[in-house]
Amino acid sequence: MANRIRSGKDRPFAGRSFIFLEQVDSTNSYILRNQELLNTPGLVVYAGRQSSGRGRSGRQWFSRLDGNLYASIVVHPRLPQSLLTSMTLLAGYSVFETIGEFGIEGLSIKWPNDILVHERKICGILCESRPICDQDLVAVVVGIGLNIRGRPENFPAPLCHVVTTLEAEGIRADREEILNRIVSKFDQILEEVHTKGPNRIFDAWQRASSSIGRPVWFEHNGRLNEGWIKGLDGKGALLVSTKDGSIIKVISGEVRYRD
Ligand code: BTN
Repeated sequence: MANRIRSGKDRPFAGRSFIFLEQVDSTNSYILRNQELLNTPGLVVYAGRQSSGRGRSGRQWFSRLDGNLYASIVVHPRLPQSLLTSMTLLAGYSVFETIGEFGIEGLSIKWPNDILVHERKICGILCESRPICDQDLVAVVVGIGLNIRGRPENFPAPLCHVVTTLEAEGIRADREEILNRIVSKFDQILEEVHTKGPNRIFDAWQRASSSIGRPVWFEHNGRLNEGWIKGLDGKGALLVSTKDGSIIKVISGEVRYRD
């Protein structure tokens, strides 16, 4: 199976080498506890199943269905510190573009990086970073969970009304093919951001996002606030306008739609 994967040095940022594991606790955790893997730029670890798949904000990621994508990519970005937080937007946009090429309808991105189909979640991304010893660098582990197989009814009760899968949306696709395409797209996007800067991708992200203009709840300075999403700034932070007309920059966390 894994031999259909195209790896190589022509992919400087993502996809230089691949490891497939039948079963693991979490592909992100597997990399994070192994310094040698963290020191391997472009490495992709993907698994058949995860026993403790992890989501954002300490949530679990349901990872027991065969044929779905549970993958983590080790990236050594040579980007200014101010752009590192935008890695998560770049990864989300890579998945958005890749699955968009299958002709899926109703696709959008919810800030920061949930990929939705008609407002149901099909993909989530968890980025975690660690400093790399002896070098002034960080390794970012970009974990991608994409629902390929099965139907929403196959997910546990609290999830089945809010998730979807490629299969449920009428798309039959092979895990390795999708992984190859996501990794290649992500590699191209990272290359572009390193050489030309992030503006084109941030503009494309905003066109792809369902978040722009929406009324939201968001957390700022430990308090829940109401606002309206304006868009991204030049570093990928989310700009939210509030009732009193001020604009707040949100760098991390999540937003909840109010409509
Ligand atoms: C989210 O909460 O939306 C993020 C989900 C990220 C899930 C992926 S699956 C592969 C990688 N390993 C993990 O434990 N989590 C990420």
